[in-house]
Amino acid sequence: MPSNAAPSPDHRRPGPACIFVIFGASGDLTKRKLIPALFNLRCLGLLPEHFAVIGVAITPGDDASFREQMTADIRQFATHPVDPAEWQAFLAGCYYISGDFNDEAVFGALKEKIAAVQQERRIEGQNVVFNLAVTPTLFGTVAGQLGAAGLLQETPDGFRRVIIEKPFGRDLDTARELNNQLHGVLRESQIYRIDHYLGKETVQNIMVFRFANMIFEPNWNRRYVDSVQITVAERLGVENRGGYLDHYGVLRDMVQNHMLSVLSLIAMEPPGSISGDAVRNEKVKVLDAIRTLQPEDVIENCVRGQYGAGVIDGQQVPAYRDEPSVDPRSPTETYAALRLFVENWRWADVPFYLRTGKRLAKHLTQVVIRFKRTPLMLFGEKVHSEAGPNALILNIQPEESITIMIRAKKPGPSIVVDSIPLDFDYRQFGKQSPATGYETLLHDCMIGDMTLFHREDSVDASWRIVNPILDVWGALPPRDFPDYEAGSWGPAAADKLLLRDGRQWENPA
Ligand code: BG6
Repeated sequence: MPSNAAPSPDHRRPGPACIFVIFGASGDLTKRKLIPALFNLRCLGLLPEHFAVIGVAITPGDDASFREQMTADIRQFATHPVDPAEWQAFLAGCYYISGDFNDEAVFGALKEKIAAVQQERRIEGQNVVFNLAVTPTLFGTVAGQLGAAGLLQETPDGFRRVIIEKPFGRDLDTARELNNQLHGVLRESQIYRIDHYLGKETVQNIMVFRFANMIFEPNWNRRYVDSVQITVAERLGVENRGGYLDHYGVLRDMVQNHMLSVLSLIAMEPPGSISGDAVRNEKVKVLDAIRTLQPEDVIENCVRGQYGAGVIDGQQVPAYRDEPSVDPRSPTETYAALRLFVENWRWADVPFYLRTGKRLAKHLTQVVIRFKRTPLMLFGEKVHSEAGPNALILNIQPEESITIMIRAKKPGPSIVVDSIPLDFDYRQFGKQSPATGYETLLHDCMIGDMTLFHREDSVDASWRIVNPILDVWGALPPRDFPDYEAGSWGPAAADKLLLRDGRQWENPA
């Protein structure tokens, strides 16, 4: 039966003519991700014919210097060889104004620039996207200034959309404060909150995999699933972001957003359509169903850790507390593991184990759905196989693959049962063009598809899940940090968390 839901916007075509304004145009995000992604969209034929970028930043400059800088940067950050003619054509639509975001005159100047660029580039209509690639403490200021300058007023002739990227607050209260500030000048339908994990191909594939196939859904519940593990392991340490990470910790930086997003895609009910709100309604229901942790639950179900010195790729690396811009007595966690329960009919009593950490043994983002044992082990499987029962492994990065671990008879005269993988490698499925991970998200914003963006209620719901953990961890400073070696799989307490349940982390060899 076809779906009778409203059609979602066409992802194979460019959106309507528009201007893309980037605040923080001289920053890292702009040169590493936003400009390469917009350029890739152009090369894919997914930018509107009448299109322009206006960069805004405090760095002094003009259109010419901006174009020059972008040309130098694209050589370094393009994801594939740059066609000079395409680049020149893209560059011709790039403009710049400089100024302090606290100064309202800048927003007056921006208004005039938008009008001038609309004329010059023959951009009909009034569509403008404002991408706030600035430090999160400026989200409220920039949005407020845009509102005061009348730049956020939508008309039948044009949309006005604002893109921001996490962190959305530092806890439940500050997240609510930010939402209130934004809602002072914007409707929720104008706010595009990016979670770059949702732009990853294999994360998007979770929904297709679940809802475009019939064979998984009947097993996707507490009757058949034993447990779910979500791992986001990084080999990197703090790089040049010591100050930021020391202030946030991985619970805020990774769990509250990326990991709970992945969890909700795994656990959600099938939506009635793939329109933005239908999907986001289901995702938020999952978050709302996660059992609220009481202080004693936090102690029992949540583990934090911090790395000490160790060896990564044969190189000695320093302890977290010896990293640049990190407090030498920092209590901040670089590792977190959680045992959560989604309390609904589908998932009651199925543990969802989440873990993430810096400086771990491998770079790996993976979801493992472990199924229950068969009711009878007719073939002595237990004796012959070390591996557990069936598992579905979704590898999100660096490999992009799906593996189903099944039991099969080993070739030979007697019945010996072992686990073998059925593999699907995403790269063999189709040639993927190298991308920044932002292409889909920026294109979706231009065509008005909000499916992959966080809605206010999901931000709120995920802070409600992590806030009790933050409270307990804040009140009880860790006494045993550092408690794992760089290059290991994390603290022993995280292993105990699962051992207690008779399970173990699915660490790849
Ligand atoms: C970011 C975090 O959101 O995600 C970083 O702030 C983290 O600390 C990064 O390293 C990981 O993203 P990816 O795409 O490399 O897995």
